[in-house]
Amino acid sequence: MRKKIIAGNWKMNKTPSEAVALINELKPLVQNEDVDVVFCVPAISIVPAMEAAKGTNINIGAENMYFEESGAYTGEIAPNMLTDVGVKYVIIGHSERREYFAETDETVNKKVLKAFEHGITPIICCGETLEQREQGIAVDFIRQQIKIAFLNVTADQAKEAVIAYEPIWAIGTGKTATSDQAEEICAAIRECIKEVYDEATAEAIRIQYGGSMNAGNAAELLAKPDIDGGLVGGASLKPDFGKIVNYNK
Ligand code: G3P
Repeated sequence: MRKKIIAGNWKMNKTPSEAVALINELKPLVQNEDVDVVFCVPAISIVPAMEAAKGTNINIGAENMYFEESGAYTGEIAPNMLTDVGVKYVIIGHSERREYFAETDETVNKKVLKAFEHGITPIICCGETLEQREQGIAVDFIRQQIKIAFLNVTADQAKEAVIAYEPIWAIGTGKTATSDQAEEICAAIRECIKEVYDEATAEAIRIQYGGSMNAGNAAELLAKPDIDGGLVGGASLKPDFGKIVNYNK
């Protein structure tokens, strides 16, 4: 049985002091021994957030990282900078980074390999556009994303990875995929992992859904057999995030 993992992706929101205040507000609301809870926060807030989350069930993650160890990459964050402050999770390949910051399947793969090299669990994002869905090529497109993202990733590493299926047309729109739509793609992703690796790896890897997940739809989505958690944007910045984490209560 895969343990659920529910992560907040704060995106570009909250100053460091606001981040600490939000974590202190959410601490008592996100207790659930059945769920791994992760807050992925802006880089500038990672250290104060780690301090605020100390002694709680809240894991602090990053929203991105670069695939080089160090060097002339102005503005980027190296993996050892994250591990040095205790970061255990990092979102890689979010559609917004693909759209605005030239992230590609190839750079996603480089970052995934580098994350594993440093013992950081990657939350690897994939998802189709509305046009691709309407053209009936969503599954083929996502399979391609997954195969490239996992190039040279070992089966043991893949078992530890998290994949976040985020239909681009559902991100920030309030238009959530139906639980059947989300399950169809998450099952296809798991089948792809089985083809690339084996049954055991496909059964072990955790697959989240992301895209307007909220307190009203989380339980139905998370009841699906191939949906092992959520990657939550807007709703993770509010006390209602506690209802998503406690979807089974
Ligand atoms: O990474 C999660 C995010 O893309 C989903 O955003 O606001 O639709 O929950 P939102």
